[in-house]
Amino acid sequence: MSNPASPPAVGVLDQGPELTFPPGFLWGAATAAYQIEGAAAEGGRTPSIWDTFSHTAGRTVAGHTGDVACDHYHRMPDDVRLMAELGLKSYRFSVSWPRVQPGGTGAANQEGLDFYRRVVDELLAHDIEPWLTLYHWDLPQPLEDAGGWPARDTAARFADYAQLVAAALGDRVRYWTTLNEPWCSAFLGYGSGVHAPGRSDGGDAVRAGHHLMLGHGLAVQALRAARPDAQLGITLNLYPVTPASDAAADVDAARRIDGLANRFFLDPVLRGSYPADLRTDLREVSDFGHVRDGDLTIISSPLDVVGINYYSRHVVAAPVEGAEPEAYWRSPSCWPGSEDVRFVTRGVPVTDMDWEIDAPGLVETLERVHREYTDLPLYVTENGSAFVDTVVDGQVDDPDRLAYFDAHLRAAHAAISAGVPLKGYFAWSLMDNFEWAWGYTKRFGMVHVDYDSQARIPKSSARWYAEVIRRNGLAAQ
Ligand code: FCB
Repeated sequence: MSNPASPPAVGVLDQGPELTFPPGFLWGAATAAYQIEGAAAEGGRTPSIWDTFSHTAGRTVAGHTGDVACDHYHRMPDDVRLMAELGLKSYRFSVSWPRVQPGGTGAANQEGLDFYRRVVDELLAHDIEPWLTLYHWDLPQPLEDAGGWPARDTAARFADYAQLVAAALGDRVRYWTTLNEPWCSAFLGYGSGVHAPGRSDGGDAVRAGHHLMLGHGLAVQALRAARPDAQLGITLNLYPVTPASDAAADVDAARRIDGLANRFFLDPVLRGSYPADLRTDLREVSDFGHVRDGDLTIISSPLDVVGINYYSRHVVAAPVEGAEPEAYWRSPSCWPGSEDVRFVTRGVPVTDMDWEIDAPGLVETLERVHREYTDLPLYVTENGSAFVDTVVDGQVDDPDRLAYFDAHLRAAHAAISAGVPLKGYFAWSLMDNFEWAWGYTKRFGMVHVDYDSQARIPKSSARWYAEVIRRNGLAAQ
């Protein structure tokens, strides 16, 4: 492995005065259990919806599964050493529900909990703050068989699971995220079906979204009772939604997609209500009869931090007869009640996911959440890009990914200068991994993974990031 203490000269850090981040800014990287752990049938782990989904023909590119992934389950101490060499101040990982509570009900699996205890101990031994996400999409399969997130009981099961993890790790983990990106769980999992469990019903997606948030609120209450000193939050994937023109119909299309993508979650969690216009937009899909008295109070239980995952912007336009959807996550069935809204591509540079690169959108997103919703500390809990990488003489040079990080860190800095209480930033991802329906075909890592040998090679973006962390800043441009 290269030594990040003496990085090669990489780009913008070499000139100019510093763009310094506030003292104590939490520099990190993120991963998720199913994307990196492997060991799918070891240590008492039972299948999650992602095991079932990825083992179903035609669901993932080339039939890729997370059975082995980055084999992190067996290589964890080395991976933590790598994080330490990069100088990470924090590591955001997720706990696999079916590893610690096989089947999703009943007693904990000690072997599963022990794995995460070792992860946390290893991190703390290297002065890396553990940031634990309870749910990054791996619902135990029996809970899906019992109805999944569209069923109310799943929320209660999630709170039980949260309690069990808090009892085991609460003494050592300060930062807790309940859910990662409930929009994806609800609208990709139960709407378009491109994510597990692969169901496609707008009403189910809306119910799933509500019960995910209910589970979040119940888990917050359970965690708060167990660990009053913990820092609790949720992670939402947020997008600025821009109308393609000033025409009233395009502006209305943007309002609708903003409702489904952003306000569906922001309003209940941070204001305790669903937006009235969203309910109207969804009236053909759901009567919201699944919302019971008191739910929104639970859902809006006070938090300590808000996590934001930012990747790109949506530019949308009013319906046109016969127009085709343009990308998998823009499939019409992820937007129940607004299926005919068009997603417009602007011809700006894109990543290997075809996601438009839009760093100013990060500033907009952070400012909006701060201005319209909350004074709480904000954290970018994911931000990053997939590009095709090549290994040359044992090195991976990834200038496009480096430039993406650089631009978005400048945006993060601009948001802080504008008064946003942004307290940390987590690069997605520490290493290449199983990118859900795309399998291993999309590489988001700062560290390259050779899936045959499991060798890790820090890319030039990783060495650059190590230097950013060391200097707590970037050179001004
Ligand atoms: C986010 C997910 C993460 C990863 C990145 C690229 O939506 O939270 O697991 O797939 O996108």
